[in-house]
This record gives sequence, C-alpha cells and structure tokens, in this order.
Amino acid sequence: MSNGRFLVLEGVDGAGTTTHTKILVDALKADGIPLKSTREPSDGPIGVMLRQILTGRLVVPTMQGPRAPTWGTMALLFAADRLDHIDAEITPNLMEGVTVLSDRYDYSSVAYQSLTSDAGGASIEWVQELNRHARRPDLTIVLDVPPEVAKRRRGARHGAPDLYDDDALQVRLCTFYKTIEKYYPKDKIVHVNADRDQAVVAAEILKHVRDLGVGRGP
Ligand code: TMP
Repeated sequence: MSNGRFLVLEGVDGAGTTTHTKILVDALKADGIPLKSTREPSDGPIGVMLRQILTGRLVVPTMQGPRAPTWGTMALLFAADRLDHIDAEITPNLMEGVTVLSDRYDYSSVAYQSLTSDAGGASIEWVQELNRHARRPDLTIVLDVPPEVAKRRRGARHGAPDLYDDDALQVRLCTFYKTIEKYYPKDKIVHVNADRDQAVVAAEILKHVRDLGVGRGP
C-alpha cells in the first residue's frame, strides 16, 4: 500500500482556510479518497491548551495583571503540539494510505510567532529550528487575500477576538504570506487568490490537489 498524501492549507485569519478545508474534504470524499481532515492547533492535549491561550481562557499571572505567554513560549508550544500531532495523527494516517489535509501547519509558526517576536528576523531561524523534524507536506496551498477583505471576514465572525486579532499584525501577516515560500525552498507551495467567488477558489484548490494525483484526473 502506498502512503497517503499530506496536504496543508495556510493563510491569515479570514483567508478562508477552514471553509476551504471543509469544501475540499467534501470534494475528495465524493471522489472516494480515504481522507483525514485535521488542523493546528491540533485537537491533542497541547493543541487544546493553545486554543485556551488564544481565546484568553489561559493566561500568565504577572504583577501587572494577566497576560498571554510571550512569543517564544508560544513558538515552543506550537512546535510541541505539531510533533505530537504528527506522531499521533498525521503519520499513522499517511502510513495507512490515508490522505491528510491540515488546516495550518508550521508556516503559521514562522509567520505568526516571528511577526509577534521581539527578536526580529532572528526569530525565523529559531522557529524553523524548533520545527526541523516536522515532516514536509506534499503540497501547501496558501490562500491570499488583501488585509481589508480578511478584516471584513473576521468581523463577520461571532465571539470574542483571539490573541492575534490585531489589524496591524494581520496586515503584516498578509505581506509575509505572499512570499512565505522563500523560507521553504524545498517545499511545494502554491498560492491561490482567495478574494474571489468561493466556488472559483474551491475549484482552483481542487485542481492543484488533483494535479498531484489525488482524486479524479484533471
Ligand atoms: P484558527 O483556528 O483560526 O486557525 O486559529 C489559530 C490561530 O493560531 C491563528 O490566529 C493562527 C495561530 N497560529 C500560530 O500563531 N502559530 C501556529 O503555529 C499555528 C498552527 C497557529
């Protein structure tokens, strides 16, 4: 039995990674592809803790009041969650011949933790080093949207803003994601303009996946 393929969707908050993960799952399932849909932060123990930090349920108590952990602690937690995710979910499924589709992966760490760090560009190298043993996806699809579109979509969500819901940061993330492949010269990364009709975007994503040999021929 051959290994399954490992696919990743990436982008800023509001780019549509979660929506398009669901649409892609439906399309591939209709093709009869054995598929595992997953996400990061994962649903494992460290991922659950990370989601509590992101939503402000878990904080660091300080003399000045509670605050979120620093970027370095976040980078370590995300890296630990990732290796646990790979170990517990990604690798076992791939070895069973199941295609794995992850909503976010280590590109998010390089983008979000480096842009929130106080160590400048040096933090990118360190974050990459933490993730050195993270297996590489067969295909990563980056959804690009202009910051104002992402902001509008985030605004339409219900619930409290999360840790990285900051307009200035999200603008910088949009720029960062546009050329993220320069930090991953060996990865197969494609960009899809996600500021278009949802069905058009979904069709382009599906085409990239089928070009890889997953599902019905092109
Ligand atoms: P999401 O559920 O909308 O994808 O939210 C997860 C948040 O966590 C999102 O703001 C991106 C952030 N994140 C990081 O900062 N680093 C990471 O490594 C990952 C996977 C996510």
